[in-house]
Amino acid sequence: MSDDAPGRTGYVIHPWLDRVPPIAVRGEGLYLYDEEGRRYLDGCSGAVSSNIGHGVPEVLEAMHAQAQRLTFAFRSQFGNRPAEALAERLGALAPGSLRWLFLVNSGSEATELAAKMALQHWQERGRPEKTHVLSRRISYHGITLGALSMSGHALRRSRFEALLAKDAGVATPYCLRCPLSLAYPSCELACADDLQTHIDALGADHVAAFIAEPVVGASGAAITPPHEYYARIRAICDANDVLFIADEVMTGMGRTGAMFAVEHYGVAPDLLVLGKGLGAGYTPVSAVLASDALMEPIRQGSGAVLYGHTLSFNPLSAATALAVLDYVEKHDLVRNARERGDQLMNALKTLAARHPVLGDVRGLGLLVGLELVADGSLAPFPPETNVTGRLVRHAFDRGLLIYPASGALEGAGDAVMIAPPLTIGAAEVDALVGMVDGAVGALERELGMAAPEPA
Ligand SMILES: Cc1ncc(COP(=O)(O)O)c(C=O)c1O
Repeated sequence: MSDDAPGRTGYVIHPWLDRVPPIAVRGEGLYLYDEEGRRYLDGCSGAVSSNIGHGVPEVLEAMHAQAQRLTFAFRSQFGNRPAEALAERLGALAPGSLRWLFLVNSGSEATELAAKMALQHWQERGRPEKTHVLSRRISYHGITLGALSMSGHALRRSRFEALLAKDAGVATPYCLRCPLSLAYPSCELACADDLQTHIDALGADHVAAFIAEPVVGASGAAITPPHEYYARIRAICDANDVLFIADEVMTGMGRTGAMFAVEHYGVAPDLLVLGKGLGAGYTPVSAVLASDALMEPIRQGSGAVLYGHTLSFNPLSAATALAVLDYVEKHDLVRNARERGDQLMNALKTLAARHPVLGDVRGLGLLVGLELVADGSLAPFPPETNVTGRLVRHAFDRGLLIYPASGALEGAGDAVMIAPPLTIGAAEVDALVGMVDGAVGALERELGMAAPEPA
């Protein structure tokens, strides 16, 4: 037993080995409860994943019913009805002809799978030299080596750099701190044209795909590109025979106020990746949706795909994802994400006018980022001051969970995300914003950016 935490082995590897988090024992709606009976408002849906809140009885019942019928049948030996139904439902919702479905267990596996499918597509078309998958300088596509290779996340890459590809160099559409030192709209979207520059540097014959999060999540705290950005990206991809992979692991399934965030931008990718909100924390499940055009050369060519995992397409996860989707649709949660997202965004912008540490409030729907700055020039804090960690702690002390998203500036830069379950109501948004206000005030006092509270 650890001396520090009675009743704990001390051998569970938590993110910080010197800090033992409380044990969670129950989830209900927007709230999680720990062993001591403390209640936490889940202001970030865990890792922006618990999209329908915790303990939804309909989902638990569907899981139970499926578990009694069939929990596993290996995908090379059997198909299963929940997977068939999920393919049909997602295919009908997704833009373009994205109706081909492959299920895996995590977002990292899914982005990596999308890259593999892109390479196979070109191989089957007789262009095996198209192997690079370009991505943006600020991006996160997952922690497995292939996914991390595509990620521009200095902090998460740092220990494994020797094993990773270096293709995450395309400029991020980060208008607040334009990487090209330009200003929107006079920039004429030079950041999108930077994709062309990177394709030219490798030669279009060597580039298989470009992968991007429609709204940058973990690495950039909801950096949201200008509206015309993705149409330009789509055009550049088409002109160069480069596939466009939309990584909607965080943004998909209604989070941004559209079922898929690419809908805001009116573009259809060749591959669309889902995770997080697909299983909504009830099961590990992620997905790749592929278009007819992507699959046709594979179907007509080798006709075989050599990827997937032991538990890919397992019927219990597929049935769970179906029940989550039923709940999203039955309760019109995509509309709620839009409406409550507007409320949240407006309230946080009002807050930012009173709190100098809040340098930017941005995002789409219920995916909102707060960038934390040292002063009016938007100077970042020195990384060692751990301002993000401190704000997360102040929120936690008030019973509010928020998501740390620091490191956009080559490992520096402080930010958090607010992304509650899409089930949140108007009064609960107000309560959440009140708690953020309290936490930010405490941070500013600690940093000497606000007067101490009167004794
Ligand atoms: C956009 C995006 N892609 C991929 C991933 C990786 O997903 P997972 O953590 O389920 O492997 C994440 C996780 O944060 C993500 O935000």
